[in-house]
Amino acid sequence: MELITGHVANPIDGFERDKLLNDFRGYTKGLIRLTPGRWLLSQGFTNFASRIYNFQHKVSDVMVMTWPKCGTTWMQEIVWTMRNNPNLDNPDAELPIDVKSPYFELDAFLPQFKTKDVYSASNPLFDAFKRWCPGRQAEDGMYLQLSECLPDHRVLKTHLPFSLLSPSLLDITKVVYVARNPKDVIVSYHHHSRINRGQAYVGTFEDFVQYFVDDDLLYGPYWSHVEEAWKRRNHPNLHFVFYEDLKKNPLGEIRVLDSFLNSNLTEAQLERIVRYTSFEEMQGRGNAVVPDVPVGSVQVKVFDEKLIRQEGGFFRKGESGDWKSKLTPDMDAKVDQWIHKNLDGLGIKFNYEISNK
Ligand code: A3P
Repeated sequence: MELITGHVANPIDGFERDKLLNDFRGYTKGLIRLTPGRWLLSQGFTNFASRIYNFQHKVSDVMVMTWPKCGTTWMQEIVWTMRNNPNLDNPDAELPIDVKSPYFELDAFLPQFKTKDVYSASNPLFDAFKRWCPGRQAEDGMYLQLSECLPDHRVLKTHLPFSLLSPSLLDITKVVYVARNPKDVIVSYHHHSRINRGQAYVGTFEDFVQYFVDDDLLYGPYWSHVEEAWKRRNHPNLHFVFYEDLKKNPLGEIRVLDSFLNSNLTEAQLERIVRYTSFEEMQGRGNAVVPDVPVGSVQVKVFDEKLIRQEGGFFRKGESGDWKSKLTPDMDAKVDQWIHKNLDGLGIKFNYEISNK
């Protein structure tokens, strides 16, 4: 099937499908791989690709773009707070971050919600949909419609690469791209893939590292995603920032963001936002994603609560360099080889070992 983006979507089937399903028990709704690019996405993406590509971006929007586990939620909370809650008095701050700053393409990964279910149940996502998109049909995708209906100043989140979004995105809208060193991304994504019931990874950590270096994880090749943003880094509407720099010097980086976003916040506001978006405070609030979604009479839990109790939740550690305690020397050598092959030529210098103190 050919998409509006010019990619061909091929369903994953046969041996590859069986292997993936054996390791990722949550991949029950089907996967596709796009050519060119080898982007690995949910089958549902084909239903939304055109609307995503043709989305009416606004000058007043900010798009937070990342590969998974690179600090998306942290940056969403920072940018949303800078633009919508600089004095920390906006009651909408309590909404799940993925609702107040909608996860643009998430509908492609979700079950088809029926409008009648949405209107008969109470849930932060459903309530936001009813509030901001009255009269709209849930079947048409709640996250994409929330992205359309939210008042200014919208802060959207995507894990899609530039090549699957509107070609005029960057000419219209400011984009904040967060990159994180791939070794910490592997560790963080492994944890996330285990606790997220839509993925439900049950394979070994060693196999997960192999999936990563083979570019076979959801959202496809990490390095191509970073490359697409890196080569646009000098565009005045793109702010490219590293997770490690934000970790090392949050106030300095948020000051740079203030200037990029033209938000003109005072030093006192910036300092308060640094505290408010610290790992400890965000972990304490714990409102990253919608915790469960009722479908009819069934509650669908996004995360495996038993595993979370054993292994930690969405806000796992929030550190740089944790990979050192997880990757064996053999795994580390494999990842180094992959880095050498894919990233060295791009000229990106990742920081793998910052002090967290
Ligand atoms: P770890 O699993 O290493 O702890 P994403 O939002 O892209 O899914 O990224 C999640 C990662 O960012 C997790 O990393 C999470 O703990 C970390 N994170 C979330 N909020 C953070 C914050 N305020 N400061 C530092 N790291 C944060």
